[in-house]
Amino acid sequence: MSIFMVKSILSILLIFLSIIALFTMFEILGRPEGKYNIEELKKIHRINGKLYFLLYIIISYLCINFIVDTKSELNPRSTFHTVFAFSILMLFLLKISYLKIYRQFYSQVKILGLLIVIFTFLSFATSGGYFLLKQIGLNKTSITSPLENREDIKLSKNITLKCDAKSIKKGRLIFETKCIFCHDYSTEKILVGPGLKGILKNEFLPTSRKKATPETIAGQLIQPYKDMPSFSYLKKEEIEDIIAFLNTV
Ligand code: HEC
Repeated sequence: MSIFMVKSILSILLIFLSIIALFTMFEILGRPEGKYNIEELKKIHRINGKLYFLLYIIISYLCINFIVDTKSELNPRSTFHTVFAFSILMLFLLKISYLKIYRQFYSQVKILGLLIVIFTFLSFATSGGYFLLKQIGLNKTSITSPLENREDIKLSKNITLKCDAKSIKKGRLIFETKCIFCHDYSTEKILVGPGLKGILKNEFLPTSRKKATPETIAGQLIQPYKDMPSFSYLKKEEIEDIIAFLNTV
């Protein structure tokens, strides 16, 4: 199972715990006369909070570990996700300090609780939720080709397979700064992504099983098949250089 799948499943659990936290908080503070036993509810709310924190730490560990391992750049979506996740930590620590030390602020605890739940949803939507939706979408064929949004590539109809030494050298440099953490080019062994040895000599691409052509590889860089980060910020020449290099491995 990929780390993204594990994270998504854990984050669904986190959403579930947030809903319990919200429900118990509303029942404790919201009703004029209690419907349930308040002491019991408080106990559930506390245990729930501890479980939430534990799960939060595990998920954060997985994320940080992935970033350190792959040295990957955060794309805009992951940046939002990280900001939301850090906000949760801040709000959580504030809430604990209001409860345990700065009791004069007690009345604001419920606002902090609400914010934690909202940020948990935002954090889920920008990561686990998005990933799960993408998994469902995988079985459907994409309506627009990934290359259609790239005017520069569309105008020239297709990607040129360059074979000159300068392009190959430039492509190798780009590959070594952007791809090498996830892809071995001297074998077909999987690091994070598949090994790319002989990628353009094989008939099909290793994961998606699309036909192995410069266009499908360019497509993978602009709109990746599954978990790979997008490199749509690369210029057409840079993409062609990478492909020139991949043609030699
Ligand atoms: C953070 C890890 C990561 C980085 C960095 C990365 N890839 Fe990938 N790559 C993957 C994964 C995972 C897959 C498997 C398919 C998928 O998830 O899209 C993959 C698949 C591929 C494939 C095969 C696609 C298919 O259809 O089977 C190619 C080609 C590829 N990557 C090229 C590159 C190139 C070139 C770069 C650098 C510009 C790069 N990758 C950077 C993780 C990465």
